[in-house]
Amino acid sequence: MNRVYNFAAGPATLPLPVLQTMQAELLDFKGTGTSVMEMSHRGAVYTEVITRARESFKRLLNVPDNYKILFMQGGAIGQNAIIPLNLMGGARKTIDSVISGAWAVKTQAEAARYADAAPIIANSCDAAGRFVSFPEFTTWNRSADAAYINICTNETIHGVEWYPSDAEAAVVNASGAFLVADMSSHILSRPLNVANYGVIYGGAQKNIGPAGVTFVIVRDDLLDMQHPLCPAAFNWRNVADNDSMFNTPPTLSIYIAGLVFEWLESMGGVAAMAALNDAKAKLLYDFIDNSKLYRNDVQSKYRSCMNVPFFLNDESLNAAFLEQSAAAGLAALKGHKMVGGMRASIYNAMPIEGVRALVGFMGEFERQNGQAF
Ligand SMILES: Cc1ncc(COP(=O)(O)O)c(C=O)c1O
Repeated sequence: MNRVYNFAAGPATLPLPVLQTMQAELLDFKGTGTSVMEMSHRGAVYTEVITRARESFKRLLNVPDNYKILFMQGGAIGQNAIIPLNLMGGARKTIDSVISGAWAVKTQAEAARYADAAPIIANSCDAAGRFVSFPEFTTWNRSADAAYINICTNETIHGVEWYPSDAEAAVVNASGAFLVADMSSHILSRPLNVANYGVIYGGAQKNIGPAGVTFVIVRDDLLDMQHPLCPAAFNWRNVADNDSMFNTPPTLSIYIAGLVFEWLESMGGVAAMAALNDAKAKLLYDFIDNSKLYRNDVQSKYRSCMNVPFFLNDESLNAAFLEQSAAAGLAALKGHKMVGGMRASIYNAMPIEGVRALVGFMGEFERQNGQAF
């Protein structure tokens, strides 16, 4: 076996024990003589798979009883449309958006197609077109009649992370609006107060499992505000009432997500994961900050613990860095084309040994190329 440390932003590395369980169970799932992807989603065996996945996810995030967990298809980008289709049937038809990076831009553009008004109420894009901070809550120019406020709490491309405090969420809730958060790239990385949000959603392919399943955590009172044109398969009420089986769910992806949830529980849950994630992020950011070759431009309080973009001060070394890091078993470090440079995604499944190996390589590369800058 020759596995590398895979720093891809998503689809991303999965925990090795999860892959090994999949492998062991592939041909004959629990004595059925078929694989999990060859059986009816409505049978008793699969019903237990999806139920266990849902319950484990609920335990991990301490999801209150007045929220539903939905497993859907279409990814986070699909939800950017599905969300307004589910919420624009209410009295309020304005959608506010806070822009903290590229993903929030996409969410706002989609919201504008369904809302009567879709104002950008805060934007942390700087004069150079970079996102190196999150718009401060006090600067949000909230609409009086907003149905909800879109935020993306971890910006995967620019490496910006922020959660509202309980007090800030309370201000939004008191206004009659609520927060809708894209948490695709840091869900389950640390404990979360789900009650601060009306809707939390994301694609699975970073911290949860393989691509193909989208998670939605939605407050019960928001299940019946559909726009009349909301497709039946995307209608949260239908999905909730049918335990995410209104239509055939992505059975394999949900099974693997369930294995990841159970692995997380065996690791001590999200509090234990947060401690590990903080240690990994500190190791990498401290190294970058103390180096002359590398830099990360995000303001320290908004630095993402999951996605760490960094630049080489001598960009002519980029190709050599990528070639040599790949040869050293450190995969997928190329930055997103929108920002360039490098990016290390260090999700839950990336062991601290992987970050140590990365820092070790970066140090050696800096020593070898010391004269070049
Ligand atoms: C924060 C965020 N939102 C949305 C998306 C898009 O998700 P999907 O491809 O599942 O639609 C991504 C994907 O990288 C992401 O990082």
